[in-house]
Amino acid sequence: MQTLEIKKDIHWVGVLNATLRIFDIVFQTRFGSTYNSYLIQAEKPTLIDCVHEKFTPEYLEKLRSLIELKDICYIVINHTEMDHTGALPALLKETPNAQILSTKTAALFLKNILHGDIKGKMVEDGECISLGNKHLKFIHAPYWHWPDTMFTYLEDDHILFPCDGFATHFCDERLYDDRVDDFAEDFQYYYEHIMGPYRKKILEAIEKIKDLDIRLIAPSHGPILRTDPWKYINAYKDWSTPRKDPGKKQIVIFYASMYGNTKKMAEAIGRGASTINTEVKLIDAANVSPEFMRCEIESADGILMGSSTINGDALKPLWDIMNVMFSINVKLKKCATFGAYGWSGEATRLMEDRLKGLKLTVVQPPVKALLTPSDEDVKRCSIFGYDFAQSLLGSSTT
Ligand code: FEO
Repeated sequence: MQTLEIKKDIHWVGVLNATLRIFDIVFQTRFGSTYNSYLIQAEKPTLIDCVHEKFTPEYLEKLRSLIELKDICYIVINHTEMDHTGALPALLKETPNAQILSTKTAALFLKNILHGDIKGKMVEDGECISLGNKHLKFIHAPYWHWPDTMFTYLEDDHILFPCDGFATHFCDERLYDDRVDDFAEDFQYYYEHIMGPYRKKILEAIEKIKDLDIRLIAPSHGPILRTDPWKYINAYKDWSTPRKDPGKKQIVIFYASMYGNTKKMAEAIGRGASTINTEVKLIDAANVSPEFMRCEIESADGILMGSSTINGDALKPLWDIMNVMFSINVKLKKCATFGAYGWSGEATRLMEDRLKGLKLTVVQPPVKALLTPSDEDVKRCSIFGYDFAQSLLGSSTT
């Protein structure tokens, strides 16, 4: 596929990566992805975003089919992650007259990506730049999903270029949202995994664009959104808006139990933690998909992890739960661990170490039970749960 004119004098000049199956090592891309870049052929020709280094020759060839590269005046870098800047060094060699437009943070990052003199201008939040017969407005959108990010709005054509925002890892050369196959699930997967940790920032940027007359969204990955752009913006808004009852603290207890002993502890802890101001969920980690636990983890104020010890380690389902936490904003959430054991009982300490590494706050020492929990152990578990709930309510008794 070559290029596509998405509006008069505005071309998609991106590349397709249909075979990509994992992005950034960890995110699934079951239908591949695209790296979208756009050429605005205004009086001052301008490029929006760039592509992955791997596709540099193809990308430059597409651009050359539309324009003399030396005529490009501006290159807008909305975000500096290398899937959008990989081809930039080669591009800059052929665009001696181009000035890079970016946020201040992106300019700092670019210094460490390009390692040379950069002809650039840092744009302020809300700043407008004239391309002669067209006009760009820049909207800073930090943490969509890096601190460097901004959106670019082409005022005359009512197009928002939000880079990774409203993007999807979904490769379909028909490109438009009304032409490609159903990508709703992948659109949400992208939001949850890439933008989800920054919900507050998502809402802040949406507030900034709410009065723009956006008629088309041209993101940096996947389909171009033209049928109802606000449907996608409102979906982000909806997914980013906190739902829990602010009056109640949410506690989620994940456990895995080989012979029911850790489960018995989890149940006692759950009873102890249940007060009028808490909502407690008990989840058998061995029977759920960790990916589907993201909402539970995100909405929890406190997280308890319980595992039997096997071969000096915690059980795999607990590690799997903790592995999804790295892409969720769990920083400073309160946590503690528990578990039954036979002779050594390392599981609780190992889980604690991992939780601390994820920047959660361990609020109390583990509770452990040797083999089958006695009545006294069950009582200790109940107190442990109560103390944990109290720590969330701000009046710990521990
Ligand atoms: Fe598509 Fe954050 O890069």
